[in-house]
Amino acid sequence: MNVIRFSELCAQGLVTGKRVFIRADLNVPQDDAGAITEDTRIRASLPCIRMALEAGAAVMVTSHLGRPTEGEFKPEDSLAPVASRMAELLGREVPLLANWVDGVPLQPGQLVLLENCRVNKGEKKNNEALARKMAALCDIFVHDAFGTAHRAEASTYGIAQFAKVACAGPLLAAEMDAITLALANPKRPLLAIVAGSKVSTKLTILKSLAGKVDQLIVGGGIANTFMLAAGLRIGKSLAEPDLLGEARAVIEAMRARGAAVPIPIDVVTAKTFAADAVATVKAAAEVADDDLILDIGPQTATVLAAQLERAGTIVWNGPVGVFEFAAFENGTRVIASAIARSSAFSIAGGGDTLAAIAKYGIEKKISYISTGGGAFLEVLEGKTLPAFEILTRRAAG
Ligand code: 3PG
Repeated sequence: MNVIRFSELCAQGLVTGKRVFIRADLNVPQDDAGAITEDTRIRASLPCIRMALEAGAAVMVTSHLGRPTEGEFKPEDSLAPVASRMAELLGREVPLLANWVDGVPLQPGQLVLLENCRVNKGEKKNNEALARKMAALCDIFVHDAFGTAHRAEASTYGIAQFAKVACAGPLLAAEMDAITLALANPKRPLLAIVAGSKVSTKLTILKSLAGKVDQLIVGGGIANTFMLAAGLRIGKSLAEPDLLGEARAVIEAMRARGAAVPIPIDVVTAKTFAADAVATVKAAAEVADDDLILDIGPQTATVLAAQLERAGTIVWNGPVGVFEFAAFENGTRVIASAIARSSAFSIAGGGDTLAAIAKYGIEKKISYISTGGGAFLEVLEGKTLPAFEILTRRAAG
């Protein structure tokens, strides 16, 4: 993708003394008291901020947090906990500024965090007047918010239209490069794991990947619908019978390209959905009417693991079983270790996938872990994200 990279501007000495506006995604999970429970996105935003400070810029950073009502700032919408965490990580003060749209007093070498940008009226609908005001605050706009790259809002899209210079920050660029490596120029075979409770929420992804990948491994409730489509019985397992036609179409599309959707040969079942339910391994053809399928079976896991180890590229979205319950975690654990062992370029994303990666301690063995939730899914759907579209257009002139 042809975009201007902030790192290149820094290397060319074009950032010194300039006012830099960084749109980060600091939308982190918080507990009921507002304490941050997981800070990956804050950590991932630091390289861009450090880069700008080291280049001698006056640095403004903003993000949304949650989905506040525009024009009605409430204490729980504040980026204050983010400012404190960022200050700890950077080892310097991070002042937080509210009501910043009409002006930000700032000198080169200084850093300021601008309060939750979604509180500004017109943010969500990408209001032009708001976007122009934000653009006027800076010489260089840096989009570094991959997690919000699928939104066209005033602080992510409009500002990129009107700022003197609009470029991609290091996090956005790294995500873009990883996605290109995995999906545009993949080393073959390319394997994707798409798992989750419902085909309906991932149908567009399944259809899009069916035209690209060599193996499409399905898991969770999605696999149940595919088992039904393959003529197997799934007892009372979660599935969407009305989407059988769509599932068959995906299987057919893959088959026509000489590719495949591997259907489980064995499964782990229980009579109830509970952590202490008795787990029974059985052949996929032997699922009883009162069975719930809660994981892929060990033989299936071994076959898939061997395929993953031989892969050139792996895209992973979703655990293949109820890995939160010890009795039904084997499939996800085996798949996770196979991805970790594989020399393939691997990219993973999505909340449950990240939880599985953390549970099995394989963070360092995955080539790229995306910070995007919805944005990562939209990439897998084959969409061009608004962030990439506008930054490419600005780079073209
Ligand atoms: C996310 O958490 O996926 C991003 O920060 C985007 O948040 P949104 O879905 O509220 O736009």
